[in-house]
Amino acid sequence: MSIIDGKALSKEIRKDVKKQVASLTEKYGKSPHLVVVLVGENPASETYVRMKHRACERAGIRSTAINKSSAISEKELLDTIINLNEDPDVHGILVQLPLPEHIDANKVINTIEYKKDVDGFHPMNIAALQIGTQGIVSATPKGIMTLLEHTGIEIEGKQALVIGRSNIVGKPVAQLLLNKNATVTIAHSRTRNLEELSRDADILIAAVGRPKMVTGDMIKEGATVIDVGVNRVEDKLIGDVDFESAKEKAAHITPVPGGVGPMTIASLLQNTLECFEALQKEA
Ligand code: GUN
Repeated sequence: MSIIDGKALSKEIRKDVKKQVASLTEKYGKSPHLVVVLVGENPASETYVRMKHRACERAGIRSTAINKSSAISEKELLDTIINLNEDPDVHGILVQLPLPEHIDANKVINTIEYKKDVDGFHPMNIAALQIGTQGIVSATPKGIMTLLEHTGIEIEGKQALVIGRSNIVGKPVAQLLLNKNATVTIAHSRTRNLEELSRDADILIAAVGRPKMVTGDMIKEGATVIDVGVNRVEDKLIGDVDFESAKEKAAHITPVPGGVGPMTIASLLQNTLECFEALQKEA
């Protein structure tokens, strides 16, 4: 059994991004610039956003925080985004989710210029993912695929089970696995035979947000298990997979923390760099 070290791999990626940032900054005479929009005061979102800014800073990527009160109107938020879309000095735009209920998150995402959509949430990028053409792939699914590649396992022809169908993780990662020719099943809260499906899975991605819901007895011997869960239980981070029992069956498994989490940030930096370079080539 090997533990997939997302922390170490993310460090390598960040080092590589930093080098590329330096070389592109020299080439274009300006550095990549990410703007992160945070609405309201959600403590988890504040932590994520802080981590994103710090990672940018370390990689030589300029990052600007726009913090808005939760009382902001939808119109005002959309206008903020339109200004960022039009600003040639901004190469990446990220609106941290969730947004307050009176704001339609889909409308907000649709308003972001898709070429600056470092989250890969815009319908243009989702369509590119589905068709299998070049687009921005959202950070967590991209990080998961990088982790899988790093293990060296074959994806083609394998049974992959994705537990969870969110737009941020479940659906895009399922599509990425399909694009790599896996046979993909998506399970969710209404799935009746989850244990059966999971015992059949060569690759299991758990992204539901329920602490330790995947236990060792549900895992196929020799499977690769990716745990996307970040459940805060009594001030500790607990994954969706019961690591202790799962590691007895899995050939490769990610820990929580130190698995998918750090890869999300590294992938965001890669996306920011990609957006920057594509926009400069167009200019
Ligand atoms: N909230 C939870 N995950 C994400 C993410 O990847 N991007 C954004 N913008 N918000 C999130």
